[in-house]
Amino acid sequence: MILSTPARALAIIFTLISISQALPHPSPEASNPSSSQQLSRRLNRRATPTDYVDYAVAGINQMQTWYSASTGLYSNAWWNSANVITMLADFQDYFPSQAEPTTNSVFPTTLANAPGGGGFPGFINGYYDDELWWALAWIKVFDVTQNSTYLDMAASIFEDAKSVWGTATCGGLWWDKAHTQNGAVENELYLTTAAKLANRSPLTPSNGYYLAEAKKAHDWFLASGLINSNNTINNGLNLQTCQNDANVVFSYNQGIILSGLAEMTWSTGDDSYNVLANTIATAAIAALTDANGVLHELCEPNACDSDEQQFKGIFGRNIQFLYSRADVLPDDTKALYLNFLTANANSIWANDQANNQLGLDWSGPDATVTVETQSSALDVIVGAACATI
Ligand SMILES: *[C@@H]1O[C@H](CO)[C@@H](O)[C@H](O)[C@H]1NC(C)=O
Ligand SMILES: *[C@@H]1O[C@H](CO)[C@@H](O)[C@H](O)[C@H]1NC(C)=O
Repeated sequence: MILSTPARALAIIFTLISISQALPHPSPEASNPSSSQQLSRRLNRRATPTDYVDYAVAGINQMQTWYSASTGLYSNAWWNSANVITMLADFQDYFPSQAEPTTNSVFPTTLANAPGGGGFPGFINGYYDDELWWALAWIKVFDVTQNSTYLDMAASIFEDAKSVWGTATCGGLWWDKAHTQNGAVENELYLTTAAKLANRSPLTPSNGYYLAEAKKAHDWFLASGLINSNNTINNGLNLQTCQNDANVVFSYNQGIILSGLAEMTWSTGDDSYNVLANTIATAAIAALTDANGVLHELCEPNACDSDEQQFKGIFGRNIQFLYSRADVLPDDTKALYLNFLTANANSIWANDQANNQLGLDWSGPDATVTVETQSSALDVIVGAACATI
């Protein structure tokens, strides 16, 4: 359980008192421009940084009602729960006192119980993307706890994908152990996991071990043709031709690679990785947002499965990463990212929220609420909170 800040509650009370006194009996200063501007700001107040934190806390408290300590999972959803853990760790990064009452028990409980709860010992199952989502979750938990048990788990998970990298029909990594798909998600996850391990374990198990994997994955990805002429990324490769299959441009495939590329610039000093991340992010915002700047998945409003309900938050989380941590961030790009985060967080809370439950369509209104839609929307609310702190 997370509590709202008492200071915020007091601020609301004082605001209400001053408005209720001002409205029936305008004081002499009411005609004074600065005073009426102040009143208008109070009446039409835009979301402030404190609001985003409160939205996040309220949304997380709702989400915790779907958590099972015995399975370590949310709504029994496997890879989605890894993304919930990542979102919580992102929140803890900037707002530890608000997050820790939840995460101090959730992180160790999920690490201990999810493998048994999901039936996948060591977080290893039939899908390399599922595995790498968990690796990324534990890397982020390591970042905010500095507890190396989590980093060790991430490194252990990564080895399963590393052991088969390069053996897929079109190179890189298969999506699954049944070898049915070879495409964007698992290869972006591999690049980003390798890049993050490279910065956290530069010398172990040997000097440059993970950076070599990240570079290999990057070079393969650029040569694969998955990035199309619009600088957006399609879902997969045609296994007969190994050409881009021109299939759906999912929002998450525009996001996963961004933080990995930015971190490759940290470890190499080569700006080109970060520049590519900005190119992909900018193209995705142009391609996938509506006239109000709100992000949509192509399957909305009625055709998104539970996987697709998770996707948009992953993009938003990575935009927040670039906003806060990219070495290469021109002013106009930085403004674009901030506007993306705040416009989407504002729209979610104003249009797509009821009783702290957050739906699929961020323009709302929307009847679909699941742990996937909840945590996906929370990624962007947390992103706005972190970007405006
Ligand atoms: C690190 O995390 C593990 C797994 O949750 C836990 O068992 C251990 O107590 C933690 N260590 C410290 C020093 O907090
Ligand atoms: C690029 O975007 C345009 C406009 O949305 C679209 O018609 C075209 O198919 C896209 N090209 C590729 C290669 O995806």
